Amino acid sequence: MNWRGTQAQSRTRYLAKFDAAEAERYDALVGGLDREDEDAYLSDLVQALPIPAGSVVLDAGAGTGTLTRILARMPGLSITALEPAPAMLARLLGKRELLGVATVEGFCDGSDDRRHFAEGQFDVIVSRQLVNGLFDPLAAFRNWHHWLRPGGAAVVIDGLYGRSAWSGIWQEEVDVLPLAACQSTAMVPYLMEVAGFRVEVVRCMEAVNARPATVSTRYIVVARK
Ligand SMILES: C[S@@+](CC[C@H](N)C(=O)[O-])C[C@H]1O[C@@H](n2cnc3c(N)ncnc32)[C@H](O)[C@@H]1O
Repeated sequence: MNWRGTQAQSRTRYLAKFDAAEAERYDALVGGLDREDEDAYLSDLVQALPIPAGSVVLDAGAGTGTLTRILARMPGLSITALEPAPAMLARLLGKRELLGVATVEGFCDGSDDRRHFAEGQFDVIVSRQLVNGLFDPLAAFRNWHHWLRPGGAAVVIDGLYGRSAWSGIWQEEVDVLPLAACQSTAMVPYLMEVAGFRVEVVRCMEAVNARPATVSTRYIVVARK
């Protein structure tokens, strides 16, 4: 039984949904954190994983650059943003503070995607609100493992979303994407272990979850190659 269609079909739907209008809506409603919200992400992130100056960092599923902006506030990082939707990437590229960021247009959860980067290219791979939308989370984690240098770290930031978080044009995806409505912080670290990582941190994000703008509880996972 083909219970959810193919990855190619999922990607075609995904890219059609993230058109210019949806990218603008996302950037205004979800992507546009104010300075205090950014501060909260920065604080929870560096407590979970200090990222030293000079680190080579990938923001996977960078979207309009919300997490990229937070990374860009850390001194001395060399940042690459990977994002498949041209309209999302265009908004990221339009942000003055992200002029120094390298960009690659592409997905990260297929075996063909491994060609985007070299083995061991990154010290750190970070993602925010990506894993709930992955068609093949294990393939993504395996690619990340390949792209990280030995001792490098992957960071997942996501929310404990329920089915009702998937509404409108996104509702049809909830039974296609394995992590779409995960109510446990255990699934992501479990899958990262299966992909070869050693999990170091799994916790709810204290500062972020204390912010009035945070609707669904956010958690962070740090896993080491
Ligand atoms: C909910 S947005 C989050 C964007 C950004 N990280 C943020 O914090 O606002 C998810 C992004 O991941 C991208 N994306 C979806 N599937 C992906 C995949 N398989 N590989 C890489 N990026 C993907 C989408 O195009 C979208 O821009």
